[in-house]
Amino acid sequence: MLPDDLRTALDRALARYAPHDLAAVVARLTESYRTETGRTHLHSQADIAAYAAYRMPATYAAAVTAMGRAAAAAPGFAPASHLDVGGGTGAALWAAGATWPSLTKVTVIEHDPHIIDLGKRLARSSPALSGATWRQASVHPGLDRPAADLVTMSYALGELPERDRQDVVRWLAADATMVIVIEPGTPTGYATIAQARQALAEYGMHIAAPCPHDGPCPILPGRDWCHFSVRLPRSALHRRVKLGTLGFEDEKFSYVAATATPAPRAAARVLRHPAKRKGLVSLRLCTGEDGLRDVLVSKRQGELYRRARDTEWGDGWPPED
Ligand SMILES: C[S@@+](CC[C@H](N)C(=O)[O-])C[C@H]1O[C@@H](n2cnc3c(N)ncnc32)[C@H](O)[C@@H]1O
Repeated sequence: MLPDDLRTALDRALARYAPHDLAAVVARLTESYRTETGRTHLHSQADIAAYAAYRMPATYAAAVTAMGRAAAAAPGFAPASHLDVGGGTGAALWAAGATWPSLTKVTVIEHDPHIIDLGKRLARSSPALSGATWRQASVHPGLDRPAADLVTMSYALGELPERDRQDVVRWLAADATMVIVIEPGTPTGYATIAQARQALAEYGMHIAAPCPHDGPCPILPGRDWCHFSVRLPRSALHRRVKLGTLGFEDEKFSYVAATATPAPRAAARVLRHPAKRKGLVSLRLCTGEDGLRDVLVSKRQGELYRRARDTEWGDGWPPED
């Protein structure tokens, strides 16, 4: 799923690390990402290399999927400028470049100079990203920032202290045409997104995706969490550092995209893999009018049934023509 130039640049940057050394770091980082939020996890050059090897393909896949859904919700949006906050090695830059070729001015804010170093090295292989400005700064609500049409924060808001997150989200929204925040698809990641969504709505932005409405989220905390999934192929290196044998993995993510002006929205969003049985498709929906609903589409419904069979978790419902 990674763009070819990024995959090649990544392989080249990681060639000096032995896969079994990276694998040991990956095991430690996986545990630390799983158990601890509100702090940064990458502390050495080996941590950064391991992150790029095993997480960047997955965060790229999540970002490009979330951005694709945001772009579908705002078809006229053709941003010229992008600010990516907590940009790490640049997964969201690459994803935004693949989604909106109109981007010409790209700025990254990242506090770790070694991470910036690797991100810059990777970006050099892309004509569209080689001119990006990488700014070393620690994000806080008072930090000066360039104006940008598109502002993103991918897998980074949850690393900030909880007390700062609402203010940082308002800071992201200032003068932006679209804001996208992405977090891991865990109950904790979803809770971070739910807070971000609330801050964006209170700021006066309109929720473009995934929600079909701007009102309170109908999902009860502790009972369920709103998340989506993307399947990505694992490269040979990825398989070695992850000690995995499968040729793919499923990345679960939660996200919110908000726009300064209202965008046309799907009437509902599919919240689970549709259950497909002979002659029946069952859809778990978040609807604009009735909260959460389970809908059965039967073969007798002809064209709607055929469309339901092609519908995937995360799609809008009913499908656009
Ligand atoms: C999990 S990584 C995500 C990187 C990238 N956005 C992605 O999607 O792959 C989180 C990044 O946020 C950065 N970060 C965490 N707290 C930060 C802060 N207060 N200011 C700037 N960057 C921060 C970390 O250094 C790290 O690069």
